[in-house]
Amino acid sequence: MKGLILSGGKGTRLRPLTYTSAKQLVPVANKPVLFYGIESLAAAGIRDIGMVVGDTQAEIRAAVGDGSRWNVRITYIEQDAPRGLAHAVLISEPFIGTDSFVMYLGDNLLNKGINGFVDEFIAQAPAAEILLTRVPDPQMFGVAELANGRVVRLVEKPKEPKSDLALVGVYLFSPAVFESVKRIKPSFRNELEITDAIQDLIDRGLEVRPHLVDGWWKDTGKLEDMLEANRLILDTIVRRVDGCVDAESRVEGKVVIEAGAVVERSVIRGPVVIGADARIIHAYVGPFTSIGSGTEIRDSEVEHSIVLEGSIISDIANRVEDSLIGRNVKIHRLPVKPSAYRFMLGDNSEVGIRW
Ligand code: DAU
Repeated sequence: MKGLILSGGKGTRLRPLTYTSAKQLVPVANKPVLFYGIESLAAAGIRDIGMVVGDTQAEIRAAVGDGSRWNVRITYIEQDAPRGLAHAVLISEPFIGTDSFVMYLGDNLLNKGINGFVDEFIAQAPAAEILLTRVPDPQMFGVAELANGRVVRLVEKPKEPKSDLALVGVYLFSPAVFESVKRIKPSFRNELEITDAIQDLIDRGLEVRPHLVDGWWKDTGKLEDMLEANRLILDTIVRRVDGCVDAESRVEGKVVIEAGAVVERSVIRGPVVIGADARIIHAYVGPFTSIGSGTEIRDSEVEHSIVLEGSIISDIANRVEDSLIGRNVKIHRLPVKPSAYRFMLGDNSEVGIRW
């Protein structure tokens, strides 16, 4: 059994962060989303992984390398443009050959891993196994209709969904899928949809097994989803303080403070992770916050947020909340008059000011 991780695509919903970096590398609890997927495949015993990459391939290659860190072999597969998930499968046929494979969307997170699904797939040997979960907004996903426990119809982002069962971004396929990805036509969004390819398997009379996911699942494509994923992962961390905390600070609850980080005259209330070499000075870092390495939080309060490497938040009067702050961002108070906001923001940035 091989693995196929999809790490191309555009990431439009996480702009401006994804102008400069791959959406699969945005960190959740200070670890790129993509790494959780690689870990899941490795934990299921999969050693040979194809990584579909697009425009952001240099960054993905630099972060992932040859996979030896996870004891897996990574083969990069270049997709010229994001032409759809089924297109990614199509171009991966030379890598997959006649094996079965797990396809894992690089921006998805599944808390219970995939071992159970892989075992079931191997034991039952269907043409495909799809993972489903109930969602409140099925029109945002691929949606499955079941009858008597069998999948009868799959529709990508339906305007009027027939069920609330969304396709989770992990699929198990036998090589029968290659014929289907060659038979389908591009969709309304001009992509070759994997949903249509699976429908084609059903139409060919082949077995597509549904599996309801019992743990949580997150597609981290949007800000709210990133924050929620961050919350879910932080909830599972084990307290570890390797950095330096002075006697005037309080560190409460599930908190990880990496080596080289410094906490002075501050309150850290977990679950929180603070990256290596971060400096938290006379500050409050509240629940569900990930502070990247080399970041500085000074005379400010941050809660329920993700702050990436090298950013500085200093001397801000109101608490920063529900925020995703990119790399090397500076938010600080200017001691000069007139007292006005002074911004330098990239395209598609968002600033929310509350009184
Ligand atoms: O997250 C689950 C959903 O993922 C499913 O419910 C949908 O049925 C499925 O089509 C997919 O929908 P999205 O619109 O969310 O897919 P997205 O374009 O975000 O792409 C998912 C991942 O695959 C992402 O990491 C980027 C990568 N990708 C995407 C495309 C279109 C590629 O590598 N190549 C591509 O051509």
